[in-house]
Amino acid sequence: MLFVQAGDGYPYYARPRFPGGQPTVADVVKVRERQRELGVPEAFEWVHETTPGLLDVAVEAGLEVLQAPLLVLDPEKLPEPHPHVRVLGTRPVEVSVVAELAFSSPGTAAGEAGVAERDAALRGAVPMSTRHRHAVADLPGEGVLAVGTAQRAGDVVEIAGIGTLPAARRRGLGGAVTAELARDALERGAELVFLSAGSLEIARVYERVGFRRFGTACIASPPA
Ligand SMILES: CC(C)(COP(=O)(O)OP(=O)(O)OC[C@H]1O[C@@H](n2cnc3c(N)ncnc32)[C@H](O)[C@@H]1OP(=O)(O)O)[C@@H](O)C(=O)NCCC(=O)NCCS
Repeated sequence: MLFVQAGDGYPYYARPRFPGGQPTVADVVKVRERQRELGVPEAFEWVHETTPGLLDVAVEAGLEVLQAPLLVLDPEKLPEPHPHVRVLGTRPVEVSVVAELAFSSPGTAAGEAGVAERDAALRGAVPMSTRHRHAVADLPGEGVLAVGTAQRAGDVVEIAGIGTLPAARRRGLGGAVTAELARDALERGAELVFLSAGSLEIARVYERVGFRRFGTACIASPPA
């Protein structure tokens, strides 16, 4: 299935039907042709456990596949609230700035970019409207060091965009932001809270605050 965006907005990936049959290399090639015709990215996403045959087929068709751990919240395993993390229905301007600096330093290691780089980037930043919930870890005397977002569809909430300034990593802030978004989602009636982690080491951050692995999200695209 290929979703086509009407108007502006983030272009969607293609995904297998569920429940579906056994996709073939020819199916993947045909979808990629159509994506090129439409001028949308040759991107595919699916859950490995529901369409296990697609992984080998996608690789054979020339795609690179990121296998991202999928995790679901065990509500009773949430840690105590963090005193300096708050969740908002608005999108503070720090959310995009801190996320951009965080995602520019992938992985979980600490790094150089910190408060000075954030403040320099904030000078040109403009606030954006939002339909989502956003969390910030806003430390006294330091400001916003970690951020995250929760998006809801019905009674399911996905947490995404968790990022900590490289210089502020390994202080528990990424985990705390995730936990507060999850708690907020439950308080607002969510039945299921899930997320996908970019790697096994990132998944550990989420496992420490009450999430457990239940599957693998496959994210496929042509080699860079
Ligand atoms: C992933 C990310 C958000 C984690 O943020 P973080 O604030 O460093 O997360 P935490 O501090 O909660 O946990 C990180 C590590 O610090 C450790 N830690 C937590 N509190 C600590 C403390 N007080 N003292 C020392 N270490 C601590 C954790 O145990 C964890 O260790 P591990 O890597 O061995 O499992 C951050 O590395 C990041 O922004 N990465 C780039 C963007 C990204 O990939 N985001 C996730 C997309 S799925």
